[in-house]
Amino acid sequence: MRTFTKGRGGLAGLFRSSKEAEDPNAEDRAAALAARAERSRPEPSREQEGDTSAAEETPDRLTMHVEAVDHSWDGIALITLRTPDGAPLAGYEPGCHADFFIKGPDGEELIRQYSLFPMTEAAADEHTIGRYGVAVKREPDSRGGSIALHQLSAGDTLDISAPRNNFSLAPSAERSILVGAGVGIAPIYSLARELKRQDADYTILYFASSAERAVLSHLIEEHLHGQTRSVFATGARDAQAGYLQTALAESGAAPEDTHLYVCGPQGFMDSIIEVASQTLPKPNIHWEAFRASEETLAGDHRADGPFEVVFCGETYEIPEGESVLDVFEDEDVPIMSRCQEGTCGTCVVRVTAGTPDHRDSFFTEEQHENGAFATCVSRSLSPTLTMERWKNI
Ligand code: FES
Repeated sequence: MRTFTKGRGGLAGLFRSSKEAEDPNAEDRAAALAARAERSRPEPSREQEGDTSAAEETPDRLTMHVEAVDHSWDGIALITLRTPDGAPLAGYEPGCHADFFIKGPDGEELIRQYSLFPMTEAAADEHTIGRYGVAVKREPDSRGGSIALHQLSAGDTLDISAPRNNFSLAPSAERSILVGAGVGIAPIYSLARELKRQDADYTILYFASSAERAVLSHLIEEHLHGQTRSVFATGARDAQAGYLQTALAESGAAPEDTHLYVCGPQGFMDSIIEVASQTLPKPNIHWEAFRASEETLAGDHRADGPFEVVFCGETYEIPEGESVLDVFEDEDVPIMSRCQEGTCGTCVVRVTAGTPDHRDSFFTEEQHENGAFATCVSRSLSPTLTMERWKNI
């Protein structure tokens, strides 16, 4: 799903498969992530993990059938997946995503995250039918993930994880403003379908560079007609603040009762969050990001060099160009990882001394302040970081 190179310790990490070993932090992490899902993000840096406790009760992998792959859009594939028995996917919730286990060009396993949304006919009950859509943008710098998905065809199968949800609807919202750009419309559409089902008050702002790239516009037209303001034009994002301000001003609900959800490229989300923050309380602003921005991954260049880690009484040298996770794995330190790019939180440890340079896009500032450190991407501004296993959040 992503191929950023700068600031990532060890590109080889992109090609590592998920670890099969017992996760020594699993219990703590599940509790932490579940707690994390309970609160809205207070800072505009991203969004992620959800009801993992529920997800972890379901099988690690589910084999989905590829029912259709639609290439009608410029560089974007709309893939329809179906559960083997046609029943609803266990753990599916509006706004959720799943890990996709994809065979890379050299046979290695790549793990990428994509949002799932219902693919049902207008008259059908989406809660009774196990068909889900995935919008996959072919990344120009793809290392194989998006390319492999674009090469799928009807009749193929694809393994995914149990769904996880970091982007749940706030039950207390009187009004919801949903903002999506590019394939970021996918979780937005999923949320909107649920709001429509609830007959709730919502508005969608949908930005795409052209109608040819507006992959879900036909579904929105079919299912959510009248609730969407679509802007399909290159450069139109310059005007996005105005559209958002209008949507906020139109709200009959008080700011504290209005919630905003946004998904799209990091820069897009940052600008939407900035505008929304002028009106809405920060806890009412929710965002979903599956990839860190290059800026986030680059971090502070002063932390690009080598540093030392003291972990559980042992000292490890982290060379330039390698991550803490790389070194831990080389030294057989048991640690789980998944995304290898700072977006899932799986590789977390707690920093107890030193000055980290956080390069993940998963943890909140509050969690960073509490010591959360993503070993796959983050580095150190001090010569030494002292760490311990993650205990709680
Ligand atoms: S493995 Fe996902 S944040 Fe490090």
